[in-house]
Amino acid sequence: NQSKVGKLRDLYSKAAELYHHILINTKLGEQAFDYLQKRGLTLDLINEFEIGFAPEKSLLEAVLKGNDTDENNYQLLRKSGLFVEWQDGSLHERFSDRIVFPIRDANGQIVAFSGRVLSVKPDVPKYLNSPETEIFNKRTILFNFDKAKAEIRLKKHVILFEGFMDVLAAYRAGIKNGVASMGTSLTNEQIYQLQRITSEIYICYDGDEPGQHATKRALELFESLGKFTMGVITLPDKLDPDEFIGKYGAQELVQVLQKQRESPLDFYMRFYEQGKNLTNENAQLTYVSEILNELVSVSDPIERDIYLNRLSQRFGIDKLNLEAQLKTEQHKQAPLV
Ligand code: CTP
Ligand code: MN
Ligand code: MN
Ligand code: MN
Ligand code: MN
Repeated sequence: NQSKVGKLRDLYSKAAELYHHILINTKLGEQAFDYLQKRGLTLDLINEFEIGFAPEKSLLEAVLKGNDTDENNYQLLRKSGLFVEWQDGSLHERFSDRIVFPIRDANGQIVAFSGRVLSVKPDVPKYLNSPETEIFNKRTILFNFDKAKAEIRLKKHVILFEGFMDVLAAYRAGIKNGVASMGTSLTNEQIYQLQRITSEIYICYDGDEPGQHATKRALELFESLGKFTMGVITLPDKLDPDEFIGKYGAQELVQVLQKQRESPLDFYMRFYEQGKNLTNENAQLTYVSEILNELVSVSDPIERDIYLNRLSQRFGIDKLNLEAQLKTEQHKQAPLV
């Protein structure tokens, strides 16, 4: 007699198989397949990630046809997260009419799905995720961590993206050490997963404003949780990695991912400049104090010196004054013993 968790795992694997089969072999999946091809996904890649399509009722009919729908099985389906229950108690496909991306745990076991609509409409979420279940704790999961692990160890670093299509875009370009936080709210638990296998992290979030704000937040979270070597890759024109490939090609993305790695401080220098008119003296003062505030956590004196020199030259402030202000900031941030 199989455990409940085992049954749930089986159900997710079977669902993935079915959705994938529908996408690549049936008429019902044709439109979704065309859509994915237009977005540059090859059949090989679709197979490798077991991407699928979930037409209405497909899964429900398949599992119910599987005969023994006794009370236990029904309860399993109800709580599986694969269906939504209507007021009248009937079950309906959660990912109905969506392209489904299987989400795997660190061992490669499918524990959830994320479903994308074929065309984005207001009031309909673009991606819909499985709810938390006994096998899916969203906070701990990074998309593609299972496949990327070996490559992360080999290359000794990881590239952190926002989304599924970004990981897949990089993968197509031959960059296989990419994972996605699946949105902009990176968690401690996701960082702990990475920490087990690498300490060198490159953040390549979307170039738009939410992506850049999330980058700052992620840098701070990493900084608060351990000793990491961090870099930031910012894409031009507010693009995300997938859009970047569409515009400039895969080779160009490889170049950017490998060569345009800013230090966190260079990122902060750009970040805090946004929306400021730095010819204005008040804006300058705010800016300088924001950068000094970030400099507090830089332990390398030479690195600190480089940035103090830059601020001093750029704004014509005596370096001694900057050093004095940095000391004050250090005291402010020192832990109260
Ligand atoms: N996301 C989500 N739910 C949403 C929107 C986004 O879970 N309603 C997650 C997805 O993992 C998505 C990531 O956040 O991949 C980044 O969001 P966004 O940049 O808006 O989407 P893209 O990844 O660019 O999606 P696409 O290219 O398919 O439009
Ligand atoms: Mn985004
Ligand atoms: Mn995006
Ligand atoms: Mn995108
Ligand atoms: Mn900081």
